[in-house]
Parts: sequence; structure tokens; C-alpha cells
Amino acid sequence: MVVVANRLPVDQVTDPDGSTRWQRSPGGLVTALEPFVAGRSGAWVGWSGSAGDAPEPFESGGMSLVPVPLSEEEVDRYYEGMSNASLWPLYHDVVEKPEYHRTWWDTYVQVNKRFAERTAEVAGEGAIVWVHDYQLQLVPAMVRQRRPDLTIGFFLHIPFPPYELFTQLPWRSAIVEGLLGADLVGFQRPSAAANFVQLARRLHDLPARSSTIEYDGRTVTARAFPISIDVRAFEELAASPQVVKRAEEIRAELGNPSRIILGVDRLDYTKGITVRLDAFQELLEEGVVQTPDTVMVQVATPSRERVEHYVHMRETIEQQVGHINGVHGTLGGPAVHYINQSVPREELAALYRAADVMLVTPYRDGMNLVAKEYVAARSDLGGALVLSEFAGAAAELRQAFLVNPHDIAGVKNQLVRALRLDPAEGAKRMRAMRRHLAKNDLEHWANSFFEALRAQA
Ligand code: ADP
Ligand code: G6P
Repeated sequence: MVVVANRLPVDQVTDPDGSTRWQRSPGGLVTALEPFVAGRSGAWVGWSGSAGDAPEPFESGGMSLVPVPLSEEEVDRYYEGMSNASLWPLYHDVVEKPEYHRTWWDTYVQVNKRFAERTAEVAGEGAIVWVHDYQLQLVPAMVRQRRPDLTIGFFLHIPFPPYELFTQLPWRSAIVEGLLGADLVGFQRPSAAANFVQLARRLHDLPARSSTIEYDGRTVTARAFPISIDVRAFEELAASPQVVKRAEEIRAELGNPSRIILGVDRLDYTKGITVRLDAFQELLEEGVVQTPDTVMVQVATPSRERVEHYVHMRETIEQQVGHINGVHGTLGGPAVHYINQSVPREELAALYRAADVMLVTPYRDGMNLVAKEYVAARSDLGGALVLSEFAGAAAELRQAFLVNPHDIAGVKNQLVRALRLDPAEGAKRMRAMRRHLAKNDLEHWANSFFEALRAQA
């Protein structure tokens, strides 16, 4: 099996002294795929995260990693431009306005071709190739053209927009044709799969039933496979004595507040970080909550830092954190502890264990694995999850305190309910969500996808 994704599971970083090292790549795609590929000794074709020549293929954590090079200009036009300033906002309900540039598109085509060529070189006879995410939507058709013997699956980790939004894209037909090169196209939600089938029907006038499309003498299936995490591994990590001890230390380091509110995200405008800061700020102003009795921790991994929307968003958030702390903090006792860094998995697990309320408020999110990690971490049945209705995870974690992130009064109400939650009621909610996750873990996701792919081949 060959997995193809824009990023390798590890990122090559250069330290100030000029030496290079590999570190875990950011984001949910890597969180989900890494244990799966490692467990099957698969190959992974992807970019190393820095511009310039690609390192030679190498083995890491039980996987064969096959780096694909990107030049400075390609990083600028394919990754930051077409992928993250056109497709990302378009597919997330146009939360920010997408930009469309022909030079970005031309480079997107060129880079997708390079990924397809490299995949065609490394895949064995009759192998399964599994292409991932919005950066590589042309790869399925390009691989099929070069290697008709392969079985090709595609999975989109982010939402897929409705016809009315998707058709803004000047290159809409090419994207649909690229995806139709796969035997099976997987989405997070049934509505996304339905959007895709409808597009194929209306845009290309193809015969399509509820989940299949007839194309080029083949049948392509489009279905939902909601992604998950390695639940047991995360649960074990979070219940380990070191992590439990670290959770106690975190509470002490924060000044032993009675309530800790936590946010953990890539620093992305889709995540609704300002929504939760607004809600917390208003509750402080109204005296409904007080510091140092209640504090908030926001851990935000830097992401796509050269893309304009991300630069503005970071400034806004940092200003807001500064304002809240200026008004409501004390010497050595901020109201919002803001960490603009990636933290190790153990520390993350300890933060989840320490948090009384986890705030997950995206305007739109394909799934949101942070919500699932929080539930997996709470084998003590403590804590409460406040979750946006617009995250894919809300379809599964029904016992969370669901919120509409556009409705600030509603977010405040649910946050207060979560902060004042009776422990027995909290445990009941957490138990129900954990029961769902135990059955719907990463293994279940991958097995369902592969079963469907085999049935198709
Ligand atoms: P996305 O894929 O859009 O980033 P997800 O919530 O699906 O969103 O996945 C994010 C992943 O990145 C999770 O596994 C989460 O633990 C991890 N992550 C997010 N923020 C941090 C951080 N500050 N430090 C370490 N890991 C993080
Ligand atoms: C999301 C996307 C992934 C992406 C990740 C991190 O999870 O679905 O495709 O890899 O974010 O973003 P980055 O741009 O740093 O790869």
C-alpha cells in the first residue's frame, strides 16, 4: 500500500546553527494516518515541509518515506496559494474570501503531476494507492493514466462544499475529473459525498445514483467514512501515571483554579478561536466567572504563517489575549494562558486531563480530532466538551454541549452550563461519548474504507 499526502508524517526543520532534524508534522491528517501506515509497513509519498531538493527515501517508524521536492516558488503558489488561499477557504464555507490566480493553478497541476509520477514509480504491481486531501485532488486521475493496474482510493479530510460554492472555482471541472480517477472517493460526512455526486451529475452530466457515478467505463463510489484516532493508544497515554501526575502539576502551575477552560488548535481562522475568547471575555466582564477562580488555556500551533489571512488572524488573537489579560489578569496570574507552540503528545494528554471544559468552536471543520482526543483522554469520566455543530465530530459526539459558533449568547450559555456541570451528569455524557469512540476508532475507519475499496476493485 502506498499513501500519498502533501506532507510526510515528519517535517524537516533547520535549527539556528544550520543543522537539520525531523519532527512530527502538524495537523489531524498525520495524527490519524501515522499509526495506520506504521502498523502496515506502508510507503508514504509526501513533501518534507521545506523548499529545495528532496532527501533520499528513508525508513522511519516502520514506514518507507518517499520525499517529493518543492521549489520556493512551488511552496508559494501550490501550497500557500492554491491549496491554502484558494481551496482551504472555499471548502470551509468561504469563512475567508478565497483568491483565484492562474499561476497558482498552473503550479498546482505541475506539483500534482510530480506526486503522481513519484507514486507510479514506487507502487508495486497491482498495489493499492491511497491519496489524501485537497492539495492532491488531481493525483487520482494522473496515477490512473500512468498505472491502470493500481486500485486507487482518495480521502478528503476537510469538508466538501455544496454545488453553489464549489462552482466558483474556475477549474472546477478539472478537480472533479481528477477525483473521478479514483475507484472510491471518501468524505467525512454523507452530505459531502452527496455534494460531490451532485456536482458530477450537474457539471459533467454523468449518470449517478445515490453513491455511485458512472464515468469513463468505470463505477466510482463516493461515500462517507468519518475519521477517528487511535483511541486505545491515546487513552493509555492519558491514563499513564506520568501524565496523570503532570495534569496535577499543570493545575498547580495555573494557581489551583477551580475551573480550567482549554482550547487546542492549529492557529487557523476556521477554528473559531476568537469566538471562545469573546465568550470568556464577556463572562468575565459580566462577573459570571472570575479570575483566578476560572482560567483559560489556549494552545495554538503556528500554521501557514506566510498566508495573509493567517497573519491577520494571529494579530487579532494576540491583541485580544493581551486585552483580556490587561483588564482581568493579575501580576503572575493571567486570565488567558496563550501558548503559540506545538506541545508534545504527553503534555497535550495532561492538558486534556487537567481541563474541566474543552472548548472546540470551529466555524467549519471536516472532523476535528481534538474533540475526539479529549474524550479518549477522559477515562476518569471527568470534564465537559463544548463542541461546534459545524465540526464533523458533532454528528458523533451528541452528548457534548453543542453550540453554534456564530451565536455568541448561545456559546456563553453552553460554556456556563459546562462550567457548572454536575459531576454525575458529566460522567453520564462522557461515558456515552466514550462508548461511541471505542467502536468507531481509527482501525474501524481504515477497515471500512479498505473493505469498500476492495469491493470496488
Ligand atoms: P486540523 O487537522 O485542522 O489541524 P484536528 O483537530 O483534526 O484539526 O487535528 C489537529 C491535530 O493536531 C490533533 O491531533 C491535535 O492533537 C494536534 N494539535 C493541535 N494543536 C496542537 C498543539 N498546540 N501541539 C501539539 N499538537 C497539536
Ligand atoms: C489539516 C489538513 C491537512 C494538513 C494539516 C496541517 O489537517 O486537512 O491536509 O496537513 O491540516 O496543515 P499544513 O498546511 O501544515 O500541512
